[in-house]
Amino acid sequence: MKIGILTSGGDCPGLNAVIRGSVLKGVRVLDAEFVGIRNGWKGLVEGDFMTLDRHSVRGLSRQGGTILGSSRTNPFEGDRGGPVNIQKTMDAEGIDAIIAIGGEGTLTAARRLTDAGIKIVGVPKTIDNDLEATDYSFGFNTAVEIATEAIDRLRTTADSHGRCMIVEVMGRHVGWIALHAGMAGGAHAILTPEQPQTIDQICEWVLHVRDRGRAPVLVVSEGFKLAGMDEALSTKGLDAFNRPRLGGISEMIAPMVEERTGIETRATVLGHTQRGGAPSAYDRVLATRLGMAAVDAVYAGQWGSMVSLRGTDIEIVSIADATIGLKTVPQARYDEAAVLFG
Ligand code: F6P
Repeated sequence: MKIGILTSGGDCPGLNAVIRGSVLKGVRVLDAEFVGIRNGWKGLVEGDFMTLDRHSVRGLSRQGGTILGSSRTNPFEGDRGGPVNIQKTMDAEGIDAIIAIGGEGTLTAARRLTDAGIKIVGVPKTIDNDLEATDYSFGFNTAVEIATEAIDRLRTTADSHGRCMIVEVMGRHVGWIALHAGMAGGAHAILTPEQPQTIDQICEWVLHVRDRGRAPVLVVSEGFKLAGMDEALSTKGLDAFNRPRLGGISEMIAPMVEERTGIETRATVLGHTQRGGAPSAYDRVLATRLGMAAVDAVYAGQWGSMVSLRGTDIEIVSIADATIGLKTVPQARYDEAAVLFG
């Protein structure tokens, strides 16, 4: 069996560990052959392949990024030819099946391609941890570690100057990174896309911290919206994420907090540092196990399935179940963390 592997969408620490897990399991146990597909669906559409054998995955589990490259190409858009073109490219290269490693967009395309007869098994990937049908995705733990370390570092400089720090973490649609890093770093407030807050509430938390003689540290998801912000922006024909981006949401809130509380306030956008570098040990193990399970699913002919973490077990679910919508932060998890605010 010849299996093509692709990584698609935003990169994520642990992608290389998945690739290594699949190749080692496939070559050592199942006598599989592999080919690397460059830059996600783009490589499959254009027939851009690379050697992927036992030697090319040596030492890969600790390496960040993806040796295959990634893109956000959607095979159904434009004149890319969709499933017909992809099947033609696979036949020409002798590829029997595809392991597609990606997030919501990638898996949605994988589901549509499977419906059209292409043999695909999916592996969930997102630092945002927003995919349904898996308890955690690899990359999330690493991102939380990086953000937590940044919060710890920003706290000491906040203390030195008696300033308020607003730390912006990734999470366009969901607040999992903010919730976990904020709890781990002892943030005085956590602001997530799912739970809009007023500027008055935020300032109340900040002043309460200052009154206790502490320097306030706030963590905010990039997709956070102030209560009422949607309405205010929509009157100008904009939406919250695509507002004019002079900076992140933290850079918008910081001057408002400073003006209203009189406390000098600084914003720090962590951005892509959360996606770069080596994966944590937890993510290496999770990614390797998912990669190995994906090869098993290919050999079992479980097309349209996705490998997933359930508790401590790796299970098989349908890609359709994983792409029904995003996994948001439940109010109960937010309320639990909010006991620690202020
Ligand atoms: O989807 C993962 C993610 O990290 C989001 O949290 C973030 O908004 C986005 O990717 C950034 O994507 P890009 O690398 O295209 O700027």
